[in-house]
Amino acid sequence: MTYASIKTVNCLHGPVDMKSLVLCLLAVACHGSTVKQQRRFPDDFLFGAATSAYQIEGAWNEDGKGENIWDRLVHTNPTVIQDLTTGDVAADSYHNYKRDVEMMRELGLNAYRFSISWARILPTGMANEINPAGVAYYNNLINEMVKYNITPMVTLYHWDLPQKLQDLGGLINPLFTEWYEDYARVVFENFGDRVKLFITFNEPSQICFEGFEYMNKAPLLNTFGVGVYLCAKHLVLAHARAYHLYNTEFKPTQGGQCGITISVNWFEADTDSAEDLMAAELMRQSQWGIYADPIFSAEGGLPRELLDRVAEKSAQQGFPRTRLSDFNEEEKAFIKGAADFFGVNHYTTVKVSATEHKQVYSVPSMLDDVNVGFYWPEENPKSASPWLSMAPNSIYHALTHLKEKYNNPKIYITENGWATYRNSSLIDNDRITYYRAAWESMLNTLDAGVNLKGYMVWSLLDNMEWLEGYIPCLGLYQVDYQDPARTRVARKSALVYKHLIKNRYIDYEYEPGNLTMTIDDGF
Ligand code: NOJ
Repeated sequence: MTYASIKTVNCLHGPVDMKSLVLCLLAVACHGSTVKQQRRFPDDFLFGAATSAYQIEGAWNEDGKGENIWDRLVHTNPTVIQDLTTGDVAADSYHNYKRDVEMMRELGLNAYRFSISWARILPTGMANEINPAGVAYYNNLINEMVKYNITPMVTLYHWDLPQKLQDLGGLINPLFTEWYEDYARVVFENFGDRVKLFITFNEPSQICFEGFEYMNKAPLLNTFGVGVYLCAKHLVLAHARAYHLYNTEFKPTQGGQCGITISVNWFEADTDSAEDLMAAELMRQSQWGIYADPIFSAEGGLPRELLDRVAEKSAQQGFPRTRLSDFNEEEKAFIKGAADFFGVNHYTTVKVSATEHKQVYSVPSMLDDVNVGFYWPEENPKSASPWLSMAPNSIYHALTHLKEKYNNPKIYITENGWATYRNSSLIDNDRITYYRAAWESMLNTLDAGVNLKGYMVWSLLDNMEWLEGYIPCLGLYQVDYQDPARTRVARKSALVYKHLIKNRYIDYEYEPGNLTMTIDDGF
């Protein structure tokens, strides 16, 4: 069925009053069409797609780029990557950026979120030596996007720390906050004339918890129960320094916004018992509250129950002081309110129990501090990534929680997506099912008054999925890794997304016929 043949009058959206109902019925009478209530996204809602530097750029040692912690990890410890691959070439976006922008135009994207590789513009991590070729690459990419009216949303740090800074301790070193502010200044100075949306960090928990404890991200350091908390505090302070730098020195002339992206999957209590409710709360505090509360809560500072729990455990374990102390008053005041928006990466729902599904956790460790069980409900359909399953109305639960907890901050969903296997069909109906459910959930969220301003699909194209290598694919476009040109081909979900962006409503009857996308396709 083609779009033109769908007999629907899209006249109802939002709360329906008597006047709009009458007008709608009149319109139906005049058009002889059936009525279907279509809820629409606002016209200024930003629809986009996201990627990150290490996952797509390749060119890992070209044109003066320095080594970063992922380069070091995959070259010195190759067996940690499930399919023994690297990001050395990946989708080769360093050489294919024009094609990437062409894809954005095919989709009709309003925005594109990408990250800057710190070591590509500052090869040693320090701001004394700027790599002109690295700056030129991002200038070219940004200019190509701006030419076609695509809003750039730039992440400064998406997990690829320059190795030289890791050699100095990386995020565990308190000086990290200075190095990061220096880097942020270089980014704002070079790109802030055209970039109006900056994200300081992507997914702090994956940086600190998974990098320094869970052994799932570079630098894969086992610093159980201590490193994660040091990293968390330095990261939040570094974020606040970059925010204030932007606010005082750049925002007055550049007029943009600066926020942070936090992974907010929905942690739901297994039952309504007080124990399970507290277990879910502790999980939320340790996975994202530790980063979000100091910035977005009315009181500032770290989450109370988590602080108490770690203090208690530290004392039991014979530590002379707690492994997690709160920020001091000066720091609290500096951090509180330091964001123009809350970037949310949302994928799934995880159930949390005080007693069930517990594993043996190292002592000390953050997981032992929190000491709860968690699991992905069996009945939820699974993707090609073990942590990603499809959960009902998940976005609504997470975002309405943030609205209540943090006084309705401005939110962008900066990632949301579904993983399929590499050899699966371009007719990716499971991804479409996932996306449609997510978009419905977003409409519910908007109806509930959440200040949601935009949505980025993860991802524009297939990319290097960290320790999972190239096994799961999350792109709207498939990348042919056998082809040196890394040809990109649209999946069916790309056409469905294009349709949504153009029309601003979810059309259940739309079935795209062939997968050829052109920039001028009108739906
Ligand atoms: C979150 C991360 O920001 C991104 O790098 C990753 O590829 C996706 N989730 C999917 O796992």
